[in-house]
Amino acid sequence: MNNVIPIFPKSNSKIPIWFLRQAGRHIPEYFELRNQTDNFINFCLNSELVVKSTKLPLKYYDLDAAIVFSDILMIPWAMNRNVNFIKGFGPSLEPMIPSETKIIKNTDLIKKLEPLSKSISILKNELPKEKKLIGFAGAPWTLACYMIEGQGSKDFINTRKALWNSNKWFMELLETLSVNIVNKLELQARAGADILMIFDSWSHMIPNNFFQECCIKPTAKIINMLRERNIYKPIIGFPFKAGSSLIDYSYESNVDCIALDWTVNLNWAIRNINPSVTIQGNLDPVSLVPEKSNYLEKNVLSILDIMKDNKFIFNVGHGLTPDCKIQNVRKVIDIVKNYK
Ligand code: CP3
Repeated sequence: MNNVIPIFPKSNSKIPIWFLRQAGRHIPEYFELRNQTDNFINFCLNSELVVKSTKLPLKYYDLDAAIVFSDILMIPWAMNRNVNFIKGFGPSLEPMIPSETKIIKNTDLIKKLEPLSKSISILKNELPKEKKLIGFAGAPWTLACYMIEGQGSKDFINTRKALWNSNKWFMELLETLSVNIVNKLELQARAGADILMIFDSWSHMIPNNFFQECCIKPTAKIINMLRERNIYKPIIGFPFKAGSSLIDYSYESNVDCIALDWTVNLNWAIRNINPSVTIQGNLDPVSLVPEKSNYLEKNVLSILDIMKDNKFIFNVGHGLTPDCKIQNVRKVIDIVKNYK
């Protein structure tokens, strides 16, 4: 832990700020880039387009970090699962069934993700030195959710069935995914990513008595493996809507920073979350949608007031939505940069 590089050096700015899904559909120019490939996977594999879309939000906003344009489902894709992104529907994968024995151990993930490595090296060269570059991966549970269900779902019944009824198989899948996640994060760190982030977007689907086995332990193991490989880049964990399990996660998962969703009470977080872990969050991204909002400034200031004596990164509590307004994002950044 002690060798870990500080997440944002103190001199950088008073309160660092960036946004989940900052590069994407709320910026009109994104569509010009996106329309240059027919397929989202090919977009993520095209270094020229990845570099441009990663830099796009920095053209609009005074942000402290860029997140490399890619997707958590690049791991299932690299594991030879059939992954598609369907307009108006979202991701669609060939669902895995527990009797499937070929849990695809022998993938050439590193080779397949070589374009990601190239994009990060270019970005590292082109971005101003003070801007941090974030690399990321999905957490094992969340990737398993998409791989088993084949799509997003309101309750991930098939994934939970696999967990209960084919537990050995399920745990093996998490294990295999963990190794691929470590490899993907290592690749990004070696290419120049300054910070790594692990998205557990469906952690709130984990039955509580499995939270340790399916979320905290795999995350801790992934981070231990990275440290054993001499990767000391700081790591942000995002156990989305994990509720009271956030406490154990903050103490046991080995993350350096915990990203909080918009439902978390920040006073509760200060009282309960491991004080040595930086907090990131947690403005509701939907508050950035109305053309004219009377609440926005009040909400941002209230977050800043609560967090002013803590290690804190300002962000939203989940990704910016496509209908989020550019002027609102600018206003938030202004308030944060001018705070006290
Ligand atoms: O600014 C950024 O954050 C860009 C990089 C990024 C994307 N996806 C691009 C993307 C990141 C960090 C992700 C992570 C991701 N992908 C997560 C974790 C974060 C979260 O939202 O919980 C998840 C669950 C996914 C899976 C995924 N990819 C979904 C559910 C979708 C469709 C959702 C939608 O809004 O349409 C995607 C596609 C995707 N990934 C888009 C973008 C910009 C939309 C693609 C498009 O239509 O152009």
